[in-house]
Amino acid sequence: MRSLVGSARALKMVSMIMLQGTYKDIFICVNALGKMIVICGGGCNLFADRAPDRGRAIARGGYLDQMAPYDSIRMCRQSHWQKPICEGRFCCMGDHMSETRTYAIIGCGMMGREHMSNLALVPGAELAAIADPDEGSREAAKAHAKSLGQSPQLFSNADDMLSAAKPDAVIIASPNFTHYDVVKPVMDAGCAVLLEKPMCTDPADALALAKAAASYDNLFWVGLEYRYMPPVTEFIERVHHGVAGDIKMLAIREHRFPFLVKVGDWNRFNRNTGGTLVEKCCHFFDLMRHILRDEPVRVYASGAADVNHLDERYNGETPDILDNAFVMLDFASGARAVLDLCMFAEGSPEQEEISAVGPMGKLEVKLPGGVVTWAPRDKSGPFEEHISVPPDALAAGDHHGATYFQQRDFHAALVNGTKPLITARDGYRSVVIGAAAQESIARRQPVDIIYKDEE
Ligand SMILES: NC(=O)c1ccc[n+]([C@@H]2O[C@H](COP(=O)([O-])OP(=O)(O)OC[C@H]3O[C@@H](n4cnc5c(N)ncnc54)[C@H](O)[C@@H]3O)[C@@H](O)[C@H]2O)c1
Repeated sequence: MRSLVGSARALKMVSMIMLQGTYKDIFICVNALGKMIVICGGGCNLFADRAPDRGRAIARGGYLDQMAPYDSIRMCRQSHWQKPICEGRFCCMGDHMSETRTYAIIGCGMMGREHMSNLALVPGAELAAIADPDEGSREAAKAHAKSLGQSPQLFSNADDMLSAAKPDAVIIASPNFTHYDVVKPVMDAGCAVLLEKPMCTDPADALALAKAAASYDNLFWVGLEYRYMPPVTEFIERVHHGVAGDIKMLAIREHRFPFLVKVGDWNRFNRNTGGTLVEKCCHFFDLMRHILRDEPVRVYASGAADVNHLDERYNGETPDILDNAFVMLDFASGARAVLDLCMFAEGSPEQEEISAVGPMGKLEVKLPGGVVTWAPRDKSGPFEEHISVPPDALAAGDHHGATYFQQRDFHAALVNGTKPLITARDGYRSVVIGAAAQESIARRQPVDIIYKDEE
């Protein structure tokens, strides 16, 4: 540590950043509005040359003699820099971050290959092996690995892969209905786990896994990664900062394209996915819990399979997955949240729109536009800010950079032996909420949400 001058709040902020890993240099200052600004960097030079706004912001501060390789600036408002209240160089996290750990991926279809692209961006993450029973997926993964400069061993069987490759960590990206069985031998082998969402298709399986994970002696992380999309992260930070006051109404709208074609068409049936409100909407229920820092206690939902996949047949069977729904949730604190899902709206300019309204005003974020809007009730706004995503991370997947940022934090937690930031409990609860919403649609009634992980 070079020098450290500052307030207890600044020190707390620094320790939070250190827990997240990645950075070596952290500068904290206060702008004209008294807002704390944190610049983090130096741990990885991946995006340095593509961050002109950040460079300008740092230069304007005048705290650096030269532009250092900065990979992230948090809470930067690009305005009126003042004297830094805290300035330090932290070797521990940044240096350890690039320590090598070996990874394997089980299930190398669309999402498994997105993980490959993102592992290639995380310093110290070495892809050692891939297991997938499908020859086509293995061939596609082999070609993709070559394009990324990776040379993993390929296996058709996960057990063979685990005993031959002995990876430090395993990313599980097989279909939803396989997660419960696939994760068991990985835990028996003692590997760190990054399990794709939804944790399981059924709440009872998710509960059993959450209980096993609670006493697991290694990292167990569930891939509910939407909170890692940089504009969403910024939006959440502002909500948690109390900008709008205690949030009373939270709305998430996803208007998007239909479900894509998957290997073996597994995603066409509720029995394989858990149902649309578990399969993909677990992301949104997790976001609601995370944003409100509270638990929903009741759900009222209405939805149907009205437009998509109705002319498709698989062994004579018509898909039964919902393509639209409204889901309303009561939270324990009295806050209300609503999900508006439509999967035949690919012409929509924005795919996700999230708004949070409290007694002081309304915060909003839209994707892919990436604009965060603050609209105070005094009508002095709206104030808009575009939150950019590093181009490499954006190009390495279809999730607005979230897969990269999640993997970066997963790797830091793996190296530093710290706790998962998205837990098996989060995985379990998001499945319970999705299943309760599916039940509400089936029964045409409100359903109480009951969590059994604390019994
Ligand atoms: N985080 C996200 O936003 C996100 C996005 C898309 C998919 N996913 C999740 O990732 C997982 C995979 O989805 P996908 O879109 O890549 O599907 P996919 O069909 O494209 O790929 C799945 C792959 O798993 C393989 N597989 C099947 N059974 C297996 C088994 N028992 N062991 C190992 N591999 C097996 C298949 O052969 C296939 O190659 C799903 O759980 C899905 O919900 C998450």
